[in-house]
Amino acid sequence: MSNLYQIAIDGPAAAGKSTVAKLAAKRLGAFYVNTGEMYRTIAWACLKEGIDISAPEKVELALAKWTMTFQNDGNGEIEIVFNGKPVVKAELRTADVAMASSNVAKIPAVRAWMLQKQRDCRMLGTIIMEGRDICTIVLPDATAKFFITATPEERARRRFAQSGEVAAGATIKSVAAEIAERDKQDENRPIAPLKPAADAKVIYTDGMTPEEVADLVIATFKEKAKL
Ligand code: CDP
Repeated sequence: MSNLYQIAIDGPAAAGKSTVAKLAAKRLGAFYVNTGEMYRTIAWACLKEGIDISAPEKVELALAKWTMTFQNDGNGEIEIVFNGKPVVKAELRTADVAMASSNVAKIPAVRAWMLQKQRDCRMLGTIIMEGRDICTIVLPDATAKFFITATPEERARRRFAQSGEVAAGATIKSVAAEIAERDKQDENRPIAPLKPAADAKVIYTDGMTPEEVADLVIATFKEKAKL
């Protein structure tokens, strides 16, 4: 690929976006950018520093002192550098950080702080960027846009199978309730709510393997990019 392209993917929690985006990025030689990890980093930092995330002005004050940059991790993905140090991805993948990330993501100052940084990822090369508002707000001119989803039951099963990401003692039922609460909050916030862009291809992934979804993403992208 000689030109630079952007593939934008949105969708609800635990829909399999990351798995599919990583597969497609490897096959296309593109760069994989997970914007959820950026919100998770802010949530993780607030939890660590004892900043009250229900008080937007306190989070905003902290943001003024914080820095976030991105670098190539040498493996086709971005590494988040927060206040000068690479973020440890495993620390972002807990149930507490997941819920807190949805709470910080509804704060307008947090989204404003993030937007240009995310758009600047286009300079890294051809990118596959996933999140909640990538097709609608971050990359509205992306080459190809997708909304990847699955039934709530299937998503709860997928998240439950990701060991380490669910709280100790969690059940499929409690995991389903946690992701339903987060989705409701993400769908109903006034700024950048989770919704399919009008021109996104919606993929219902129940009964599909990640490879089949990646095949569909790649074929649709190639058609749009006339490759
Ligand atoms: O991996 P999972 O689907 O559970 O979530 P994630 O993609 O890591 O996103 C965590 C949270 O960040 C979401 O619940 C959203 O509230 C927020 N987020 C957002 O608001 N906008 C994005 N572009 C990406 C994530």
